[in-house]
Amino acid sequence: MNLPQPQYLRKVSHASHFFYNCMDQADDMNDTNIGTKRHRVVSGARTTGPLHLGNYHGALKNWVNLQSKYQCFFFAADWHALTTEYERPEYIQQYTHEMVLDWLGVGLDPKQCTVFIQSHVPEHAELQVLLAMVTPLSWLERVPTYKELRSKLKEKHLATYGFLGYPVLQSADILIYKPAFVPVGEDQVSHIELTREIARHFNFLYEARSKGPVFPEPQSLLTTASKMPGLDGQKMSKSYHNTIGLREDPKSVEHKIKTMPTDPARVRRVDPGEPEKCPVWRFHQVYSTKEVQDWVQVGCRSAGIGCLQCKQPVIESVLEEQAVIIKRAEPYQKDPSLTHDILREGALVAREEARKTLGEVKEIMGLAKV
Ligand code: TRP
Ligand code: SF4
Repeated sequence: MNLPQPQYLRKVSHASHFFYNCMDQADDMNDTNIGTKRHRVVSGARTTGPLHLGNYHGALKNWVNLQSKYQCFFFAADWHALTTEYERPEYIQQYTHEMVLDWLGVGLDPKQCTVFIQSHVPEHAELQVLLAMVTPLSWLERVPTYKELRSKLKEKHLATYGFLGYPVLQSADILIYKPAFVPVGEDQVSHIELTREIARHFNFLYEARSKGPVFPEPQSLLTTASKMPGLDGQKMSKSYHNTIGLREDPKSVEHKIKTMPTDPARVRRVDPGEPEKCPVWRFHQVYSTKEVQDWVQVGCRSAGIGCLQCKQPVIESVLEEQAVIIKRAEPYQKDPSLTHDILREGALVAREEARKTLGEVKEIMGLAKV
């Protein structure tokens, strides 16, 4: 059989995704019906560690925006966490719970969107089994994240079936809700492309057994690269150990920022510096007003201000941002039953939608009804 090539190997650029900041334009194009929430959005996040400010500025803020415009399904991908953490599963439950608290803290509103845990909707797994039947092995072996992570994380023994199947599970997560859009970062684009390929392949294979295409091809909604720097000036990322937690203790946040590296040229207080060479300046670009930024530029280059002085407004802004998140999460933190109720209800809503698609797929794939 001649299998089609996945699109991400065929073409480099095509119109399969929007940039998130183009969404207003998309609305104007009448492609989406604001108000009626006609279109669906699905996204998930792996529960492999506490969320940090980079996650907030890079993804979560967008999710919060999307919830009022689309019918949104957001889930904690605990199965996906297991694909790499199966040898140390003891933290997954805690990370999952903490992540949901973070989501509620940043303003995801269970009244506006459906929040749930992936493994609470076993239909995702069942669809994965079925999609796996039609997915060529070669498509999976060529997924860039598979090749990269496998060699990067050698000590983790990722030569597993589960890890190879990661993007099939992700495809099932998505396709089961037939969404129009999947908000993701750049690193996930190849997975969304594969999802589209699987959808197309499925539709083609079973054309004769279904009334029209079963799966619409979802588009990735690219969240523009987060400008959030880490404490060392690199991108903020768990693997660089340069993060500030979303609800981290204020004392610890203050300590981290106070001990952040600055322009190495400023050895003594009287030595002038260059903001462009300093990670603290990157924080000012995210957090400070024009006035404060000017004060930094002038003060740094003339040695008019000291680095600790320069960091003070950053400390205040970060703490202020976090205070809102911490406060919003507080009731849920105090009473875990609130979160459990939200997740139970979320799973119910999600399952109802998931079952519809699964029923359709089972029928098409010739599985017997009870
Ligand atoms: N793979 C995604 C990540 O690492 C997480 C994820 C799992 C996901 N299932 C998904 C994202 C479905 C979007 C849609 O970030
Ligand atoms: Fe960095 Fe501010 Fe110090 Fe300049 S004054 S080196 S911008 S911390």
